[in-house]
This record gives sequence, structure tokens and C-alpha cells, in this order.
Amino acid sequence: MRVLSGIQPSGHLHLGNYLGALRQFVDLQDRAQCLFCVVDLHALTVRQDPAALRQSTLEVASLYLAAGIDPQRAAIFVQSHVPEHAELGWLLGCLCTFGELQRMTQFKDKAGERESVSLGLFAYPALMAADILLYRASHVPVGDDQRQHLELTRDLAARFNARHGETFPVPAALIGAVGARVMSLQNPHEKMSKSSPDPRSRVELLDTPDQVRAKIRVAVTDSEREIRHDPEHKPAVSNLLEILALASSQSLAELQEHYVGLGYGRLKQDLAEAVVALLEPLQARQRELSAAPDHLRAVLGQGAELAHALAEDTMRDVRTAMGLLTAR
Ligand code: TYM
Repeated sequence: MRVLSGIQPSGHLHLGNYLGALRQFVDLQDRAQCLFCVVDLHALTVRQDPAALRQSTLEVASLYLAAGIDPQRAAIFVQSHVPEHAELGWLLGCLCTFGELQRMTQFKDKAGERESVSLGLFAYPALMAADILLYRASHVPVGDDQRQHLELTRDLAARFNARHGETFPVPAALIGAVGARVMSLQNPHEKMSKSSPDPRSRVELLDTPDQVRAKIRVAVTDSEREIRHDPEHKPAVSNLLEILALASSQSLAELQEHYVGLGYGRLKQDLAEAVVALLEPLQARQRELSAAPDHLRAVLGQGAELAHALAEDTMRDVRTAMGLLTAR
């Protein structure tokens, strides 16, 4: 089992990133060879401030470590440190059709919000496929919003193999049963996202305890009183219950029973304390790591070296299979 996943350094990470992705990364490192990258080339598909991007890249890397990924067991690296990502992204882009990319819902959503759309934003899924196939990954832990990109990756792997000979395993998405789609605290019909203009919509992993409490206190609920997990009819309360289930390691059924006769105020209080307790050790480790930037740089250097060796191996096969002449 070889696992690859990535997170964009396009803003501060939030509970959705943790519960949907990062938490799974930590669990997987005991069972599989793991590679986790900070996908800075993906972040560049929309305009970024250069200094903020560098800062954010280091912050995401430090959160990988703070969440519990052990660099002795998993490679942690920055996507742009392994140039083969961009090369394979181009080659897979040549296998991918305009129609396929146009159908990506994340592209449609993001493109709809802006006046001008970069070629990079359109080609984004081909680069994501390259991230995965470059390491011949068998499994990809992600949140639910990446499902369609994973389907495209699988199609591209199969297409490549059919045209050029067996080269890539067809990777499987690993999407958790709970936590794969954490919703906005202000609008339960939208996912929690780094880019929402309303900071109250998300709990960020580096929010202070008071910020966490304040955001959860003003989270929307509904006009009823009953605490029940029913995403269709009670999306806001169900979202709070799901976050609490994961943060407190209890099942939804246990929680539902516990809250019979209790009100939303109590649920929010308990949720806030559970989230504060969940984030506290992660934040303490993150503070230590930010005080030791050389350590973080060394981890990223070592990760890139390992990733690069695997990437070179794959690219030799890919170039030959596609008919590129080898340089002497
Ligand atoms: P990104 O940076 O938007 O998000 C990182 C991870 O967090 C998950 N996620 C969520 N999970 C649950 N609830 C939410 N509200 C929520 N929001 C985000 C995402 O599903 C993701 O797993 N395209 C990817 C980055 C990427 C990648 C890859 C992932 C690039 N190359 C290769 C896997 C493999 C993205 O934009 O994730």
C-alpha cells in the first residue's frame, strides 16, 4: 500500500482539512508507505502574494508534523521541490480532454467566482493526477470534495496504461465515513473552506481557545430544539454533531442519546470544549516547530530527496513509454 496526499497552502488550515484529511494521514502512516506534500504549485492556480505563499507553505508543513505525522515514517515535502510533478502534469494534460476538465465541478465553482481564469486553474486536475501517479500511489486519503478529481486520476491512469503499456496502478480514494464533508458553521449547505470571506464559517487549526468558543457560539442551528443527526432535515445541527463525534471519539448514536432533553446551547458548549481540547496539543507542537525553522527545513529536504528518487524512477518509464527520446 502506497499512500499519497496533499494540501494546498492557500490559506490557514481548518477543521475540515483536519477531520477530512490530516487525521487520516496520521492513521495511515503505521500501515503504508506514505508521502504527504504541500502542493504549492496548485495554490498558484489563483493569485497568491509571494511572501504569504512561502509563509503558508511552511505553516502547512509544520501542521503535518504537529498533527502527528512522523518524518521517520512518512515523507513530508513541498511539491515544487520535486520538478517532475510539473513535467508529468504536462504529459497527463496531453492525455486529458478539454471536455473532461470542463466538467469538473470544483473548476466550475471556482471559475464562476472570478472574471479571469488561468490555464493553471483549468489544468489543475491533471497536475493533481500527476502528484498521485508520480509515486504510483495505490491509495489517496482525501475529503469528499476531491472525489471527482480522483475519478479523473483513475481514468487517466487506465488510459495511459491502455495506450502506452502497464505503468500506473489505478489508485483508490480513501474517504472517511464521518468527517469527509465538514460544513460551514455559517451556512450548512456550503463546505467549510479556507477561502470563504467569512472567518466565522470555519474553525482554523491555529485559532485561540477564545476564537474557537466564539465561532462555535455563533454557529447557525435551526428553529427546532431537538438534537438529532439528520443531515437532510437538520444540516446545521448534524454538522455540529459530526464534528463533536470525531473530536470526542464518540459515536453519533451515543451523542444523540446523551443529548435527549438538552438544548443547542449545551451542545455548542460541549463542542467548543471538545474542539479546544483536540487542538491544544497540536498547537503546542506547532509552536515548538515554528521556533525551530531549521528542523522543519531539514525534514522537508529529506522528504524531497526521498520523493525525488521515486519520481525519477517513474519518469524514466513514462518518458520511454510515451516516446520521448532520452538525453545522452
Ligand atoms: P485542499 O487543500 O482544498 O484540502 C486539503 C484536504 O482537506 C479536505 N477538505 C475537507 N474535508 C472535509 N471537509 C471539508 N470542509 C474539507 N475541505 C477540504 C480535502 O478534500 C483535501 O483532502 N486538490 C486538493 C489538493 C491536492 C491533492 C493532490 C490531494 C493536490 N494534489 C493529490 C490528494 C492527492 C485540494 O485542493 O485540497
